[in-house]
Amino acid sequence: MVKLVEEINTVEYLEIEGQKDLKGEIEISGAKNSALPNMATALLTDEPVILNNLPDLLDVKTMIKLLEHIGVSINKINEGKYIFKLDNVNSLEAPYELVNRMRASILVLGPMVARFGYAKVALPGGCAIGTRPVDLHLKALEKMGAEISLEHGYIIARAPKGLKGAEINFEKITVTGTENILMAAVLAEGTTILNNCAMEPEVVDLAKLLKKMGAYIEGEGSSRIVVRGVKRLKGTNHTIIPDRIEAGTFAVLSALFDGNIRLKNYPYKYLDFVHQKLKEIGIDVIPLGKDEVVIRRDKQLKPVDIETKEYPYFPTDLQAQFMTLLSIVDGLSTITENIFENRFMHVQELDRLGANIKVKGKTAFIKGVKKLKGAEVQATDLRASAAMVLAGLIAEGKTKIYNVYHLDRGYERIEEKLKNIGAVIKRGVEFIED
Ligand code: EPZ
Repeated sequence: MVKLVEEINTVEYLEIEGQKDLKGEIEISGAKNSALPNMATALLTDEPVILNNLPDLLDVKTMIKLLEHIGVSINKINEGKYIFKLDNVNSLEAPYELVNRMRASILVLGPMVARFGYAKVALPGGCAIGTRPVDLHLKALEKMGAEISLEHGYIIARAPKGLKGAEINFEKITVTGTENILMAAVLAEGTTILNNCAMEPEVVDLAKLLKKMGAYIEGEGSSRIVVRGVKRLKGTNHTIIPDRIEAGTFAVLSALFDGNIRLKNYPYKYLDFVHQKLKEIGIDVIPLGKDEVVIRRDKQLKPVDIETKEYPYFPTDLQAQFMTLLSIVDGLSTITENIFENRFMHVQELDRLGANIKVKGKTAFIKGVKKLKGAEVQATDLRASAAMVLAGLIAEGKTKIYNVYHLDRGYERIEEKLKNIGAVIKRGVEFIED
């Protein structure tokens, strides 16, 4: 059978010319992992929720689509400022095509079942970095009286009489699990206690927003949160915290370019442990007033050992970026990934650029090389794609990074920010004929 039309696929790439003289200033955007749960709170009230400093990201756009699908009207007032208002409920379902695009869609489950007594959310599939189950979210909701069933790839949660407060002991520390249950508990009848919960700044930011809406919450930021349920929540106006992972990514970038890049809106207080590690390597992050920092570095950087752990320790979301940095630090460094079971896909991509990294079990052994040399590489997950951009910026010659979709999910206007400090970077599309 003659093919009438060649199957034409396209793939987007970023092309970077390395070793340019980068200097100037980068402004850190609002935190993606704070924006996503904060947007879901619009389901908990029929009053307007105004969010400021919302980053312009693919994941934010996906969450907007999902909330509009459910019935939230969303209006952009100006850059980063949006009004969310649940006018009428069109659907209590989070469809597969949206959940599949962004697993954080699971964050509508808690609010929907708490407020409406029903939710149907596609079971998020695994992703590149691991299977990423949501069993702990579901066990906690069951403990609060929800009846959970899995039907044709969907989670069906029913609580026709509403949720009841309960004592929840998380077997593992889960960030979105903590956030989902926090949002469910604020409208549950009675008191809910969350033990062994996540302490990330994004959890604290969500609790702050919920309290502004009238929720009773204590202990956010510790491993034990107590919530006293209320009948209803009101609208409010809230500003999203800066993105500590984007900030850490650009602190590494500045260190790679002799500290000639100043960072604004830098959330210094959320990165203590990261700063401690940078200091061990020979890099200082120096505050310059309220929320601006400059980076200073020793000539000769030192190898280190890093273990990823839950907040306040070294974040898994900065693991790949530090691997790029350590790949050109003389000596043997190690990075152990304790949170996700498969978050080393960037290793073979960095090795394609001339790095010398071997993985044994949960640990990557990084033998520093003199320099990286440009090549064609893949972005494998959101944060790994940032690591590849950092690598392309320091590599000799040209680097082409495919699958930039990952990058757009978590880094606002990254080409623009990098061009502003002198990077030679362009986006292209390649047609692949089958
Ligand atoms: C959040 O994901 C972040 N995403 C991730 O950031 C981050 O890497 C991760 O926390 C860890 O810090 C958002 O906040 C939207 P977890 P989350 O539940 O909540 C296991 C990025 O780059 N687990 O804390 O999905 C799980 O498999 C993204 O912005 C269960 O076993 O992560 C993992 O091994 C990537 N059962 C560990 O716990 C569950 O029910 C931590 O996962 C839930 C989690």
